[in-house]
Amino acid sequence: MAFLDQAERARAAGLKDDPTRRDFVAGRIALRAFAAGILAVHPGELTAAYVCPDCGTGPENDHGRPGYRIAGLPAGLNLSLSRSHGWALLAAVHTREPGVRPGIDLEHSSGVTFPGFDVVALTPAERERLNTLTPDQATRWRAAAWARKEALLKSRGTGLRVDPATVEAFAEPGDGIVLIELDTFALGLPAGFAAALAVPGTA
Ligand SMILES: CC(C)(COP(=O)(O)OP(=O)(O)OC[C@H]1O[C@@H](n2cnc3c(N)ncnc32)[C@H](O)[C@@H]1OP(=O)(O)O)[C@@H](O)C(=O)NCCC(=O)NCCS
Repeated sequence: MAFLDQAERARAAGLKDDPTRRDFVAGRIALRAFAAGILAVHPGELTAAYVCPDCGTGPENDHGRPGYRIAGLPAGLNLSLSRSHGWALLAAVHTREPGVRPGIDLEHSSGVTFPGFDVVALTPAERERLNTLTPDQATRWRAAAWARKEALLKSRGTGLRVDPATVEAFAEPGDGIVLIELDTFALGLPAGFAAALAVPGTA
């Protein structure tokens, strides 16, 4: 907790479920250490500067798109984080261009099996595609589709303010963002995960 800012510690204190709080704190510490390593500074030199599309930014803001400042100035690093089942993935683009944002998402297949997931999360075309898959394939496909949607919406900076059932997970995003499915085994994750990275650029 030593390197976390006041707003981060306050958000942690508000999380009453122990594993949720532990995962939150671990993710924030990992992201700060990751950013400090890339910027070649001490983690304590960074001040969290999260940006929420609704609430804005400032030292009291504890949520939204992640970022840091150094000595009061933007650190020049655009970041993304995702946690799932005690694991986290981090991504960064080292740039002073605020719009060039990575979006990363990690999803466990157990998170996409609840009744109603398809209606809430998938487009009509995606729901049709499910009819061609076996139940096992369908679960993996749902997790992959959800990871791709969230990665894309994080890169765009909106998160789930955009209805995910309007976002085609496997189509070319069309706004200069490239969606990449990550190999979770190569990343050292246990079975059952899907992960995706969205980055501005060309494939
Ligand atoms: C962002 C969102 C997609 C996260 O999805 P999730 O599966 O619950 O969680 P993940 O672990 O994958 O990602 C969490 C991280 O996403 C990042 N994030 C949050 N909002 C983001 C945004 N608008 N754009 C990009 N990244 C964002 C943060 O780094 C967050 O980490 P934190 O918990 O340390 O703050 C989802 O929470 C969302 O869109 N929420 C929007 C509504 C909202 O935040 N309302 C409350 C405030 S007004």
